[in-house]
Amino acid sequence: MTIAVTGTSGHLGRLVVESLLARGAAAADVVALARTTGAVVDLADRGVVVREADYGRPETLAAALAGVDVLVLVSGSEVGRRVEQHGNVVDAARAAGVSRVIYTSAPHATTSALVLAPEHKATEELLAASGLSTTVLRNNWYTENYAPDVLRARETGEIVASTGAGRVASASRADYAEAAAVVALAAQQDGAHDGAVYELTGDVAWSFDELAAAAADVVGRPVAFRGVTPEEHLAILAGAGLDEGTAGFVVALDGNIRDGLLGDATGDLAGLLGRPTTPLVDGLRAAVDDVVTA
Ligand SMILES: NC(=O)c1ccc[n+]([C@@H]2O[C@H](COP(=O)([O-])OP(=O)(O)OC[C@H]3O[C@@H](n4cnc5c(N)ncnc54)[C@H](OP(=O)(O)O)[C@@H]3O)[C@@H](O)[C@H]2O)c1
Repeated sequence: MTIAVTGTSGHLGRLVVESLLARGAAAADVVALARTTGAVVDLADRGVVVREADYGRPETLAAALAGVDVLVLVSGSEVGRRVEQHGNVVDAARAAGVSRVIYTSAPHATTSALVLAPEHKATEELLAASGLSTTVLRNNWYTENYAPDVLRARETGEIVASTGAGRVASASRADYAEAAAVVALAAQQDGAHDGAVYELTGDVAWSFDELAAAAADVVGRPVAFRGVTPEEHLAILAGAGLDEGTAGFVVALDGNIRDGLLGDATGDLAGLLGRPTTPLVDGLRAAVDDVVTA
């Protein structure tokens, strides 16, 4: 009876593996799937089973999922190609007789205007149509997304965004990963969480003034939030060297925050963890330390 996790060469997938091991899963019963297997040799050294799995190469997926009981499908990072890629994984999971697929999705994916929602919505629909038992973990923003803002604020004393009065109910990646491990282990043990859709968020939906205050705590100097219009934001990002597409994407996401699409704190994550989620300031401090020591 094995639990496999995709994307283990990335941040979240690796943390899911670590959480499974920390919660008592035997290394030999955990399968770390990666496109870039060279990034997880340390897991193999610890007895974790490592297999190649490239979402874009279905021929790797049948062998990758052989004998797998529960699969944690971490959404891919190649925006625009993910529906086909995730579809390949879903097809392979069905062919391999996987008993549960746990998918990391986006907040309110099926109804949200979030610019990133359509690929997650389509993946949730593929899963629903597959006949597989599923659990959907709709992850809000990672607190780690704001580490670059905090590091910039250390130099400038400000955080600049076009988010207006919007709030973000972010949580640390490690919290989301632990929740995935909790669900995977429960699914394996007694089939729990079958068909569940969780809106995973931090316990607090923070404003950008509160983000600036937390950043000030982390960097040890005053930090202010400077709200700008979307047009001003685009010009600032272009001036910093971002290409038009990337700058437009960042500003669109800030618009989604301004519209309140990431602002509801649900309690689902703390409920799965059985403890409060990691506070913003602690998550930022750890994220900044990780960037500095990387
Ligand atoms: N909620 C949020 O704030 C937020 C923020 C960013 C991303 N995300 C989503 O959450 C996912 C996990 O986040 P993360 O921080 O762990 O991202 P990450 O560190 O960039 O890791 C992404 C992982 O996806 C793997 N991947 C990409 N394309 C693949 C393919 N064709 N076949 C197999 N594996 C593939 C990567 O493998 P390689 O190492 O081989 O590239 C990597 O292991 C992301 O992929 C994205 O969908 C959410």
